[in-house]
Amino acid sequence: MRLNSTIFAGLCLLAFACNKNEEKKEETPPPPSASTAVAPPSATPAAPASASAAPAAEGKTVELKVTAQATTMAFDPTTLTVPAGSTVHLVLENKKPGALSHNWALVNPGTEAKVAADGLAKGEAANYIAPEADLLANTELVKPGTTGEVTFKAPAAGKYPYICTFPGHYMMMKGTLTVTP
Ligand code: CU
Repeated sequence: MRLNSTIFAGLCLLAFACNKNEEKKEETPPPPSASTAVAPPSATPAAPASASAAPAAEGKTVELKVTAQATTMAFDPTTLTVPAGSTVHLVLENKKPGALSHNWALVNPGTEAKVAADGLAKGEAANYIAPEADLLANTELVKPGTTGEVTFKAPAAGKYPYICTFPGHYMMMKGTLTVTP
């Protein structure tokens, strides 16, 4: 009997505590969803909203050339423009002299740090690239004196950062690809 009442008292206390907790939760304002770095998959630019009008550049191939030096952490140029719907063929040349390898990775806006960190975790054998939804296109790791390339379909109109995911490079080695409607 004594044990039963102890258990009962314990349950009451537990129920009370849980109830308190719920009240507390309700008082807390919902966290701002936009503050997190990881965007939900639905936020990634998908196909153009209106399916009625296909982009004029649909099927057209755009040739792009980006140069990097094996001594510095910079892309040349730092701005690129392609029309939506086009097929993009990009060549990255890493010029000697120097010892730095580079890659070129197109990512969703605001995901540079995440994509670079994920690539870093994958290591050199993976070109410092981790396949993920926020990584839109990338070349392999390009050694000094060589070139790399990638062909991809231009994403929906907007501005997209491109970075080098070689460890320590992404904060300086970056540019912006503008996709025009
Ligand atoms: Cu680099």
